[in-house]
Amino acid sequence: MPSSGETTTLASGHVAVPLEEEDEKRIFRNFPTFTDGASRLNPGRWLLLKGFKDVADRIYNFKLRESDVVIVTFPKSGTTWSQEVVWSMLHDPDLKGAPRSPLMDRPPYLEMEVDQWPTEVKFFVPPLFQAMCPGGDASRGTVVQMLEVEKEPRVIKTHLPLSLLPRDTLDKAKVVYVARNPKDLVTSFYEFSRTIKRLQFQGSLAEFADHFMRDELRYCPYWEHLREAWQKRNHPNLHFIFFEDLKKDSVREYRKLAGFLGSKLSEEQLARVMEHTSFSSMKGRDEALGKSDQMNSEGSFFRSGQTGSWKQKLSHDLESKIDAWTKENVADFGSDFKYFIS
Ligand code: A3P
Repeated sequence: MPSSGETTTLASGHVAVPLEEEDEKRIFRNFPTFTDGASRLNPGRWLLLKGFKDVADRIYNFKLRESDVVIVTFPKSGTTWSQEVVWSMLHDPDLKGAPRSPLMDRPPYLEMEVDQWPTEVKFFVPPLFQAMCPGGDASRGTVVQMLEVEKEPRVIKTHLPLSLLPRDTLDKAKVVYVARNPKDLVTSFYEFSRTIKRLQFQGSLAEFADHFMRDELRYCPYWEHLREAWQKRNHPNLHFIFFEDLKKDSVREYRKLAGFLGSKLSEEQLARVMEHTSFSSMKGRDEALGKSDQMNSEGSFFRSGQTGSWKQKLSHDLESKIDAWTKENVADFGSDFKYFIS
């Protein structure tokens, strides 16, 4: 897979630089299905598939609406959970069965066209595209067209860092950012990458964690992703949630989230949404997420749903390495940044 060496300047001001062939081989050596090529986007050193540069400007120039809610996460931080909570609060708090498309397609996933490898076509065409946009021309961008017809308030998911989102995101829309302890995150991400058919990661957890700490997984660097959102934690349009808080004090966190979204839920509605989005309820709907198509028999989008499950998986050595890496990186985050060393 030759690296062309060509750089591209994006509307956001980032410069996409293809990885050197040697780096690409090393970084993706344990991903046998990887075919796409990858780039670093500077500033930030964001690692993204090479095709991202072809949709980046479309995303950056995308017109958000004031009613939009954008859920921003580093992968495996509780994206699906928060999607289901936000969507239910806004669209179906009584759980009367408002029509829902499969969760994977709802809400549209901003960078979906270039996040699905391997692809035989240049861009992945989401299965719902033709149904939502009959006669639509995929080359104009499927996600943006799907978003045009999406019911308001739109709930949009992305793993992109804030700096690569549409230019006026925080002025226009509400952003929910979910962060998760990196030890749980890396354990979850490893199991996911190992068992999802399109990735089939072949290495060990220790190797995967090394990639993570060296900023060699897509959407890395992890700390920079968090830092961008953490710096905006007092912005009125950004709501920062820790996965750990959602687990530990769900009632309080669900209430705070509903308040941020401006959805005046009664106690009964809140209780219904909580039940509908509990780990066991969501796991029960695993098949509706397309599990059987996407994961091998060991995998699940709902693995343990716990905090601290890394304790059964990480060696003492690896735990110490991640702790040291964390300490180094959170030095400037302030004392209200919690849960990350335990
Ligand atoms: P584990 O692998 O640790 O179980 P994402 O949606 O960002 O990919 O995050 C996936 C993680 O969120 C998985 O973590 C999954 O089990 C957990 N998760 C999903 N729904 C959940 C829920 N309702 N309650 C708690 N955890 C949930």
